[in-house]
Amino acid sequence: MSESCKFKCYIWELPVRWCHWVNVLSIVTLAVTGFFIGTPFSFGSSASDFTMGWIRFVHFTAAYAFVVSVLSRIIWSFIGNKYAGWREFLPFLTVSGREKMVRMFRYYMFMDKEVPETIGHNPLATTAYLALFLLYILMILTGFSLYAEHAPGGLMHRTLGFMYALFSAQGMRLAHHISMWLIFGFVINHIYSAWLMDIKERGSEISSMFSGYKFTVKKEK
Ligand code: HEM
Ligand code: HEM
Repeated sequence: MSESCKFKCYIWELPVRWCHWVNVLSIVTLAVTGFFIGTPFSFGSSASDFTMGWIRFVHFTAAYAFVVSVLSRIIWSFIGNKYAGWREFLPFLTVSGREKMVRMFRYYMFMDKEVPETIGHNPLATTAYLALFLLYILMILTGFSLYAEHAPGGLMHRTLGFMYALFSAQGMRLAHHISMWLIFGFVINHIYSAWLMDIKERGSEISSMFSGYKFTVKKEK
C-alpha cells in the first residue's frame, strides 16, 4: 500500500513517552556509575578523596528517578490507552496474540518477506518488554537491599527482609551486575529493531517515541 494511504494515529501517550526516556537516561547513568562501583578507581584513602562517594550518590539519585518512572509506567498500564495497557505485555495468553508472535518471529528469521503491520507494540517486542520489566524489578530489589544494608533494622531494611533470606550480599551483587549485562543485550536488539521497523514499516517508529504519533495502514477509531 502506498504511503499516501497511511493514517496518522496517536499511539503513545505522554506518560508512556516520559517514562520511556526517563528510564533510558536513568539506566545509562546507573550503568556508567554502577560499572565504576563494581570496578572502583579510588579507595577514599583521605577525607578529601570522595570521588567514589559522588559516583555512588549519582547512582542512588538515578535509582530513585528510575523507581518513580517504573512505578508510574506500571500504574499507567491500568489507566492508559489500550496500547499502554498491561494486556499488551501478555500477548501469548490469547490465540490471536500467539499467531501474531509467530508471524513476527517468521519475519525476524527471514522466513517471510512482508513485515506484519502492527499499530501499537509488536507482540514479540512486548514479550521482551515483560522480561525487561522483571529485570527492572530484580535491579530495584537487589539495589535497594544492598543500599539498605547501611541501616540494619531501618524501615527499608525490614521491608526488604525477604531479600536477605533469598540472597547473600554477594549473591545480590552478582544478580545486580549480571542483570546490567542482560539489559545491555536487550538494548542492542531493541535499537536495531526500532530502526529496522522505522525503515520497513515507514511509520515513523523512532520519532513516535517523541511525538506519540505513528503512521499505519489501518484506520483506528
Ligand atoms: C536504555 C535504553 C532503552 C530501554 C531500556 C528501552 C526500553 C523500552 C521499553 C520498555 C519500551 C516499551 C514502552 C512502553 O510501553 O512503556 C520501549 C519502546 C520503544 N523504544 Fe525503547 N528503550 C531504550 C532505548 C531506546 C532508544 C535509544 C530508542 C530510539 C532509537 C528507542 C525506541 C523505542 C521505540 C520506537 C519504542 C516503541 C516501539 C514499540 O515498542 O513497538 N528506545 N523501549
Ligand atoms: C538498570 C538499573 C541499574 C543498573 C544498570 C545498575 C548497575 C550497577 C552495577 C553494575 C553495580 C556494581 C555491582 C558490582 O559489580 O558489585 C551496582 C552497584 C550498586 N547499585 Fe546499582 N544498578 C541499577 C539500579 C540500581 C537501583 C534501582 C538501586 C537502588 C538503590 C541500586 C543500588 C546499588 C547499590 C547499593 C550498589 C552497590 C553495591 C555494593 O555495595 O557493592 N542500583 N549497580
